[in-house]
Amino acid sequence: MITPEFWSIPARTLSPAELAQKSTVLKERLAEIVKRFSDVRFATSLAAEDMVVTDAIQKAKANIKLFTLATGRLHQETVDMVKTTEDHYGVTIEKVYPQENDVQAFIDQYGMNGFYDGEEPKKACCGARKIKPLNAALQGADAWITGQRREQSTTRTELNLEELDDARGIAKFNPLFDWSEADIWAYIKQENVPIHPLHLKGYPSIGCEPCTRQVKQGEDIRAGRWWWLQSDSKECGLHVNQ
Ligand code: ADX
Ligand code: SF4
Repeated sequence: MITPEFWSIPARTLSPAELAQKSTVLKERLAEIVKRFSDVRFATSLAAEDMVVTDAIQKAKANIKLFTLATGRLHQETVDMVKTTEDHYGVTIEKVYPQENDVQAFIDQYGMNGFYDGEEPKKACCGARKIKPLNAALQGADAWITGQRREQSTTRTELNLEELDDARGIAKFNPLFDWSEADIWAYIKQENVPIHPLHLKGYPSIGCEPCTRQVKQGEDIRAGRWWWLQSDSKECGLHVNQ
């Protein structure tokens, strides 16, 4: 047998009973969040984990608003996934864009693709295209939800279901914190969740187009994100508490 060169979607490894149990717990987590908070918002990148959360939000009929950070540097496939998801679930996903003057200031100082030059310009670009828009997207919310998982990265091993987002002074939830990659894909298959087409082309993790590439078989699943940087700086700052 020829081993595929790039990462591919893991084969299902959960029994239907195990998966049903995981799904139930996920929906209970979402129901509990909306019981405790009045304005809950979910940040979706349209990648696999976020599609699982989106599906569970709809099935739990949880009153949670969806938004996506439309950075201006996403793959066309990601842009198209917004509509695919809206049509599939009959929901609206708010697109939150960066401020033109912030983007222009970055380009003037570092150049359009200046983020390849090091940690500081990468931080500046993510700051303009993701962090400031995230702050705007969360104005007025008292809790937000992400699709992060502990297993995803060395920077996420301590992740909990509930955190305090110190930067914004609101609650933050990671309802998939204890899910494995196999759990995610088993859920997607079982529930016929629409998936981002780049997952079929060797991309386990998807961010902005110039900062994401395919991952080889056996490589870390975030190896294709900001691949020119050390693994402990492979975060865009969306999930840094400061
Ligand atoms: S990150 O470094 O880009 O934050 P990752 O792609 O693993 O990492 O995403 C983690 C979580 O951050 C996602 O599950 C989602 O909740 C949120 N997120 C990431 N990118 C976006 C985006 N473009 N729009 C909205 N939420 C996002
Ligand atoms: Fe900029 Fe890359 Fe960060 Fe997107 S991921 S905001 S293109 S540095």
